[in-house]
Amino acid sequence: MNKYDSELVAGILKSAGYEAVDDIEMADIVLINTCSVREHAERRVLDKIDSYYTAKRKSPHTIIGVLGCMAERLGPKLLEMSPAVSFALGPDAYRNLPNVLELHRSGRPHTDIRIDTNTETYTDIYPSRCKGISAWIAIMRGCNNFCSYCIVPYLRGRERSRPVDDILDETRKIVNEGFKEIVLLGQNVNSYRYGDVDFPRLIERVSQIDGAERIRFATSHPKDLSPDLLRIIAGNEKICSHIHLAVQSGSNAILKAMNRNYTREHFISLITRAREIIGDPGIYTDIIVGYPGESEQDFEDTIDLVEQLRFDGVFCFKYSPREGTKAYELKDDISEEDKATRLIRLNALQKQIAFERNSKLIGSMQRILVEGPDKKRKAGHFMGRTDTNKIAIFRHKNQVSVGDMVDIRINEVSGMTLFGELI
Ligand code: 5AD
Ligand code: SF4
Repeated sequence: MNKYDSELVAGILKSAGYEAVDDIEMADIVLINTCSVREHAERRVLDKIDSYYTAKRKSPHTIIGVLGCMAERLGPKLLEMSPAVSFALGPDAYRNLPNVLELHRSGRPHTDIRIDTNTETYTDIYPSRCKGISAWIAIMRGCNNFCSYCIVPYLRGRERSRPVDDILDETRKIVNEGFKEIVLLGQNVNSYRYGDVDFPRLIERVSQIDGAERIRFATSHPKDLSPDLLRIIAGNEKICSHIHLAVQSGSNAILKAMNRNYTREHFISLITRAREIIGDPGIYTDIIVGYPGESEQDFEDTIDLVEQLRFDGVFCFKYSPREGTKAYELKDDISEEDKATRLIRLNALQKQIAFERNSKLIGSMQRILVEGPDKKRKAGHFMGRTDTNKIAIFRHKNQVSVGDMVDIRINEVSGMTLFGELI
């Protein structure tokens, strides 16, 4: 979502007559889009700002703006935290960016935090997209779930969906520009609703657009992954067999404390149903280790769930207390060392599972959407993805074009990557 927002900001600035440069030394304005979901992300931003400060000292007229969730969360405090920061602008204030820049250039500093956290959808703004084959489209913004640990609902506001026609128009535009893959984005895409169009209806309509060859979506909350949507994924060639469904923990006590509103049994039944209906989709999840009060047994329950469900990928995070959330009121009582040990154990288990799952694909044929030459290997190697979102590398003597859909036979795998030959 942040990468998409950066493209949105680039679109806004382009319309206002600004031009992007590749080299930071050439820039009059430096904008840093930020994430507040974990403290680590924020620390990295502050380090980055420091490094830009050096550049700014060389050229005192450079404007450095902080955008995104950190700007929303810290606002004017950011200006006190670093003398390099000229202004902070939250994610619902981007429309106002050209105005804020003008004020700065005329010597009237201005910071804009909250404009419209509950209704802004950027409906009429066209992002300036990075070249490639895959394009993001935000279909909704915000979140109403208030998981106890999560800062997102406080910074991104309530759920609101973009008009259907707007999304379809943008998809047509993107396809005409040569993009082949559309990724429908939102904090909670399955909660999409505009009039009587819900997410399953929307994704069906997007898939009817000629030239949109693959459609993905991210991310879903377990409460909204309906059998209706699973059947549409199963029955529609263009919609990828790829589900990102965060479980966060395998312990019922922790799920309850996290305010996730489902049990491990319910989650297991959802994944089982997805596999029954779709076949063998790529299933990816997020897990937090070291939530306050997470006992050894709670963590063992998470390990057990991962062993049982055998995901294709798990994104593991150490719990990070976020001021303003419900969990912030609890003691962050799992030591850094225990969080690290749990994270390493979970990652090692998942690596083994992914390797075993991928090994089963040896000898199979996979359809790949080619993303480009593989930069890490010698000439003649190309890189693409399966519809289950696995990276695949293959060799071919002749030129293969970016955006081609090709069939390859898998002959080798690693934990994360498939290797094959063009058929
Ligand atoms: N600490 C650690 N991880 C978090 N996430 C969200 N909030 C926190 C937090 N406070 C993780 C969740 C979410 C992913 C995007 O980030 O796993 O699914
Ligand atoms: Fe955060 Fe929960 Fe909303 Fe995801 S569903 S953005 S974890 S509050």
